[in-house]
Amino acid sequence: MSEAPRPVTWITGAGKGIGRALALHLAAEGATVAASARTLGDLDTLVAEADRSKGGSIHPFALDTTQPEAVAAGVEAIEGGLGPITQAVLNAGTDQSMGVADFSTQTLRAVIEVNLLGTASCLEAVLPPMRRRKSGRIAVVSSVAGYRGLPTAAAYGPTKAALTNMMESLKIEAAQAGILLQVINPGFVRTPLTDRNPFPMPFLIEADEAAARIADGLRSKAFEITFPKRFTYGLKLARLLPYALYFPLIAKITGSPKR
Ligand SMILES: NC(=O)c1ccc[n+]([C@@H]2O[C@H](COP(=O)([O-])OP(=O)(O)OC[C@H]3O[C@@H](n4cnc5c(N)ncnc54)[C@H](OP(=O)(O)O)[C@@H]3O)[C@@H](O)[C@H]2O)c1
Repeated sequence: MSEAPRPVTWITGAGKGIGRALALHLAAEGATVAASARTLGDLDTLVAEADRSKGGSIHPFALDTTQPEAVAAGVEAIEGGLGPITQAVLNAGTDQSMGVADFSTQTLRAVIEVNLLGTASCLEAVLPPMRRRKSGRIAVVSSVAGYRGLPTAAAYGPTKAALTNMMESLKIEAAQAGILLQVINPGFVRTPLTDRNPFPMPFLIEADEAAARIADGLRSKAFEITFPKRFTYGLKLARLLPYALYFPLIAKITGSPKR
């Protein structure tokens, strides 16, 4: 009797930061991981670092998530080489600070291109094979910055709010098609992306810890995976505040001028 194919996890943005830590964490647990990013050198070092002691492995598939044809070809290559993608963690993302002084459509478009449309390209490529198989799990990395507007996040925040809303929109139908959808909302995680932040980051955690929290979440059926809860639950509560209380509170916490 032939063996059932091993489950395959596809992670985008696996070259650095959270995606990289998650790829290493899952491989160490024994998973087969297809790792995507644009920088092949990052993927090569990632593959070399994989702990194979439990039979896990990492396989590089360089692609740019903003190129739908490359994404479609990447998904075909992963499934052809490793077998059906059983779970996808659509994590590739970027950030550009934007507020009143530097407000620009160009910046907004660049962030939407990666965070929203890049993730959408991945969904477009991976949903049809999962629908055919009537099984699969897709977890999209959004952010607590999508809960409500925050200073300097006028480009990043809307892309994450849109991602979460998009996943909520797809959730029920996907479940009916046998596909589990999840949204991952991390607080601050130390990565090359946040190393650029000029402001203090409350409750900052390491990428390894974020990877462990995500791996736990991927074993659950919860729609939202969020951590560290001592920070993200506070932001959830802030969502309920009327604007008259929300804006002064956020201005105080972030040290932004009150208007
Ligand atoms: N760090 C945090 O505190 C935090 C908090 C909440 C949410 N998040 C979200 O978590 C995700 C990962 O963030 P991170 O902090 O780990 O970022 P990071 O350190 O900058 O890593 C991002 C990864 O995504 C890849 N990537 C970027 N654009 C891509 C594209 N167009 N196509 C393919 N790959 C692309 C990058 O590699 P290449 O440049 O080589 O492609 C890199 O491997 C993002 O969606 C971010 O918004 C992060």
